[in-house]
Amino acid sequence: MSEVVDRWSSRRAFILAVTGAAVGLGNIWRFPYVAGENGGALFFLLYVFFVLAMGLPVMIAEIMIGRAGRRPPIQALAALAREQGRSAKWSWVAGFGLLTVFLVLSFYSVVSGWSIEYLLSAVRGRFAGASPDVISQALDVFLANPWLVVLNHSLFMILTMVIVAMGVSSGLERLNNWLMPLLYLLLVVLVVYAATTPGFAHALTWLFSPKFTDLTPLVVVNALGHAFFTLAIGACALMAYGAYMPEDQSLVKAVVIVAALDVLVAVLSGIAIFSVVFSHHLDPTSGPGLMFVALPIAFSSMPFGVPLLAAFFLLLLLATWTSSINLAEPMVASLSAGKLSRPVAALIVGICVWAAGLLPALSFSTLANVRPIAGMTFFDLVTSVPPDIFLPLGGLMIAWFATNVLARHKAVSALGAGESGYRVWVGVTRYVAIPLVVLVLLSALIPKLS
Ligand code: PHE
Repeated sequence: MSEVVDRWSSRRAFILAVTGAAVGLGNIWRFPYVAGENGGALFFLLYVFFVLAMGLPVMIAEIMIGRAGRRPPIQALAALAREQGRSAKWSWVAGFGLLTVFLVLSFYSVVSGWSIEYLLSAVRGRFAGASPDVISQALDVFLANPWLVVLNHSLFMILTMVIVAMGVSSGLERLNNWLMPLLYLLLVVLVVYAATTPGFAHALTWLFSPKFTDLTPLVVVNALGHAFFTLAIGACALMAYGAYMPEDQSLVKAVVIVAALDVLVAVLSGIAIFSVVFSHHLDPTSGPGLMFVALPIAFSSMPFGVPLLAAFFLLLLLATWTSSINLAEPMVASLSAGKLSRPVAALIVGICVWAAGLLPALSFSTLANVRPIAGMTFFDLVTSVPPDIFLPLGGLMIAWFATNVLARHKAVSALGAGESGYRVWVGVTRYVAIPLVVLVLLSALIPKLS
């Protein structure tokens, strides 16, 4: 396949697209509940460390390959490897990435569907003045309704695939341009409100003063997986976006801006959600429902709570939409590199992911008692194994490819930071990021062994 000619229309558009991919459920839904299950502050500290030490170098590696290859991930890896006289089997790395985005998108769409339901409920004013007990029961009642959950999952899948069918660079840009800043603004409003609640101080200590006695291999693995998940790396999804990156843009600058925004959104939503949790004596370890209980509680006791809650879920939905589009892009781009047109490829991918999503969607109702491995439901499995294991593993292979297979001159020009910049990046990736990822992944075996 020849190189793609599509480009993001500006440097700003590229940054917005990558931020759109990075900021999503990972920051607002997943971060609080995974931090909650892993003790809070220590998890947060490790996550930030992993973003800096491994996330940034791997993110650069991934986008660099896309930019150097100017093709969808499978084709890019094959072409770049062949140019160096290496095996085209390197494209298997992208194959593994596609498997990962497939699995991630299957649950991502389900949880985004929950947000659709919550948006509609908020618009109808259902949570106005409701007590915390009523609000948490409402979530259980909703999740136990297989039809409603599947209906919302289906709706979200259609929304995603319509944009991907249009081609991301035209479909996505308008969405990113002005809606995302509004989400950040609303988060700040929420944090300002949180500062007036009794649980605020507790939330801050819980998130920011780590107790090193909490350290277990599982916390470390979860923090690494979350760092990769929230930065959208390790699954070749950003590689697909790198293919459309303008020629004259600094990759390092773009990546630093995106990572900073991404961590900021997680911090803001963490403070807001844990203030509610501690103000209302909720359980921080209560799992994936945490955000869906905490936010309605927060807004229901706030002035203008009804419209603000609706606005929040609308913006959250837009943020998850831009992430799910990124998750779908590598699959659709790779499939439509052959004879299939983009819309047909999007339809096929959409149907397959939708069908796979039925398993997590029904994990709270029809399939609640089906627990294939270690007592976990399909939802538990698919929300933990692909993010925590597959993404770091994929990232490892991507980083290896970028530092050992990709032609040096191509890497230097795709990085756009000169020879010395390249040397710093290679050094950090080879001697810090790769060994650390290997170490953490190996430590993942420890709890299984003991
Ligand atoms: N980063 C996205 C989020 O935080 C999820 C994602 C993971 C997107 C992997 C693309 C690839 O919601």
